[in-house]
Amino acid sequence: MTKFLFVTDLDHTFVGDDQALLELSDRLQRHREEHGTKIVYSTGRSPVLYRELQQEKNLFSPDALVLSVGTEIYLDGSNNPDSQWSSILSQGWDSQKILSITEQFPELVLQPDTEQRPFKVSFFLKAELSGILPQLESELQKTKLNVKLIYSSGIDLDILPLTSDKGQAMQFLRQKWKFAAEQTVVCGDSGNDIALFAVGRERGIIVGNARPELLQWHNQNPADYRYLAQNRCAAGIMEGLTYFGFLE
Ligand code: GLC
Ligand code: MG
Repeated sequence: MTKFLFVTDLDHTFVGDDQALLELSDRLQRHREEHGTKIVYSTGRSPVLYRELQQEKNLFSPDALVLSVGTEIYLDGSNNPDSQWSSILSQGWDSQKILSITEQFPELVLQPDTEQRPFKVSFFLKAELSGILPQLESELQKTKLNVKLIYSSGIDLDILPLTSDKGQAMQFLRQKWKFAAEQTVVCGDSGNDIALFAVGRERGIIVGNARPELLQWHNQNPADYRYLAQNRCAAGIMEGLTYFGFLE
């Protein structure tokens, strides 16, 4: 067994089956101790909502925490986001300008204040109203704002700097810690995880309970370095890790 970089989404991926979560957490921590494997949680949650989940599920400490859909990276338990990453994202980012455009779309409902972050503006948008997305995107493009839209789970819309998402944040850590793509595994279940699977040739595990938007993307972009698990959540991750030979 050799070390690898393990990057996982939390809600409905790492978390969602308490029994399997305990077993996987145990195996990953042992792998970290014995082989130097690095563990990263990558979630859409803000610091406030991450802390809630961390306490509720007693999640062990990762080597890095990627919050707010890849726009904040916290290394080694630090309370401050990595400044090198923040400075990359700050180029040309203007949330006031974004809001002046989103205001024109009554279908968009702002998410709670905790989820509005320095490099993330988030809304709820009902699936039946999501037909406005192309128009919203073109209004934002006209202003040359360099943003990207990420729609997840038929309800969450995130607007982020073009330079960020879960995939870009993962690449930043992969290069920092010098792991090859072949020695990196990414796991997810929904729209904001597509960036993890799409950015390169990292090994991918899609859990068995994945959302339609991710399955649809996977069917349109099949790849032999991506595994669609039968099992749900952490049990699906263990199935995938065994398939790729990272766990026995
Ligand atoms: C989490 C965040 C929310 C975001 C969603 C999808 O639920 O709290 O702000 O929109 O993930 O990325
Ligand atoms: Mg998820």
